[in-house]
Amino acid sequence: IPKRRALVLLADDHSRILLKSENSHGNSDYINASPIMDHDPRNPAYIATQGPLPATVADFWQMVWESGCVVIVMLTPLTENGVKQCYHYWPDEGSNLYHIYEVNLVSEHIWCEDFLVRSFYLKNLQTNETRTVTQFHFLSWYDQGVPSSTRSLLDFRRKVNKCYRGRSCPIIVHCSDGAGRSGTYVLIDMVLNKMAKGAKEIDIAATLEHLRDQRPGMVQTKEQFEFALTAVAEEVNAILKALPQ
Ligand SMILES: *[C@@H]1O[C@H](CO)[C@@H](O)[C@H](O)[C@H]1NC(C)=O
Repeated sequence: IPKRRALVLLADDHSRILLKSENSHGNSDYINASPIMDHDPRNPAYIATQGPLPATVADFWQMVWESGCVVIVMLTPLTENGVKQCYHYWPDEGSNLYHIYEVNLVSEHIWCEDFLVRSFYLKNLQTNETRTVTQFHFLSWYDQGVPSSTRSLLDFRRKVNKCYRGRSCPIIVHCSDGAGRSGTYVLIDMVLNKMAKGAKEIDIAATLEHLRDQRPGMVQTKEQFEFALTAVAEEVNAILKALPQ
């Protein structure tokens, strides 16, 4: 929790997401979320944010709505050793109303023991517009730690990107503080996307600096950075193996 507060203090005006205060339940534009740019300096590729708190869940859905988001990547269990990591911000069945945003749980699909996928029908009750939002929830990645295997995280990323393919809206990525695990995931995804686009040189440390310029604390431990390197190496190996001999 102190970390969460620290990040709240650090998120400054030029690098955070602003909500439309007229549509906000608290008439405030504030949310602890940072736009993360990749190659396009105008449109963020991701929004890294803290896991919603009871008091910020309506702001979270407002951000999902206003950013045009269709994919949420959740990288934390709800609780860890009895400590709350994130508010349960969606309905377990049927629908919940968060300010003017109605969220309907349409389906929940358990892919494997490490992750599941939920589909929501999101409705803005002010305009009656609707949108489908898919949440990919990685269950077994604990605070300050790394997933038990690179394979499960790479599988997870493939599912996310298959769903996202061809869109231009940002992917919302959160864990508890929106920095350690979220930073690690974004680093891996960004580097692998650069490679897939045929970048001739990949500088993972420079990519991390670029991320940290946009949100402090992205990737928190040496172990997380090493995990990112291993995941990238593993994907490179898989690509090499698939090449015609
Ligand atoms: C939204 O739908 C409700 C119920 O059908 C209707 O009463 C209301 O006028 C609609 N609002 C807009 C902005 O279309």
